[in-house]
Amino acid sequence: MAWRIFKYIEHLFHTRHRKGHGIHSPYLFEFVNRVLFNSEGVKLPPSILNEHRKLRSESAFVRSSSVSRRFGFLLYRITRWFHPEMIIELGTGVGISTIYLSSGSPETPLHSIEGDRERAALAAQLICRCCPGPVSIHWGKMEEKLEHISTLIPQRFVAFVDGNHHYEPTVTYVRKLMERAGDESVIVMDDIYWSRGMQRAWKEVVSWPEVRVSIDLFHMGILLLRKDLHKAEIKIKF
Ligand SMILES: C[S@@+](CC[C@H](N)C(=O)[O-])C[C@H]1O[C@@H](n2cnc3c(N)ncnc32)[C@H](O)[C@@H]1O
Repeated sequence: MAWRIFKYIEHLFHTRHRKGHGIHSPYLFEFVNRVLFNSEGVKLPPSILNEHRKLRSESAFVRSSSVSRRFGFLLYRITRWFHPEMIIELGTGVGISTIYLSSGSPETPLHSIEGDRERAALAAQLICRCCPGPVSIHWGKMEEKLEHISTLIPQRFVAFVDGNHHYEPTVTYVRKLMERAGDESVIVMDDIYWSRGMQRAWKEVVSWPEVRVSIDLFHMGILLLRKDLHKAEIKIKF
């Protein structure tokens, strides 16, 4: 815990580019300004907010392990902005992040993997209530299920990596996703400072040549792969 607090203070000292200031690439500026800081004033569907509020008050798992409203809404804006050909989620939990991801781009097929049977069943119920789009929950071991769906993954996807928060599996999952990714894919990693292992995993993937720009928001990290971007590591206070 003390380590995380120290890391957060360190993060605050190194952040810049608030609302895109000082970013020269038009693509990156648009992304930071419009998507991260919501300069267009995009609104979240009230039904999503209500479900999240209700489940937060009922479930300790949701309070401790699901995305917050703020970061859920960011996931919504990311899929809304990119309109990917597929959304992939590693770690469904009870489906909170799933409903944000899917609602941002309701026509996009979403594949989500969860190892806990009960959570996967709860997620399926939530998705039935909230997601108009095609969502598939794959119940089973992440490694096996990711292997299973990997041949379906198109070049332009948005992935949210939020399961098995350890160095080795995290790096393996992101590597697997990267094997399928084209220029326009975006990979979001949750809890990049959750532990020393997660920070090591984040640092490692950021160093890969395929990752052109990494955006460190402390609670989440975003990887952009477009080859026309100059290699950069950005830290933003979000
Ligand atoms: C942090 S929770 C996901 C929360 C969810 N993304 C949200 O924000 O609502 C991580 C989930 O990953 C699942 N998980 C962890 N390791 C796994 C593994 N090896 N295979 C399958 N699922 C796993 C856990 O059961 C847990 O529900």
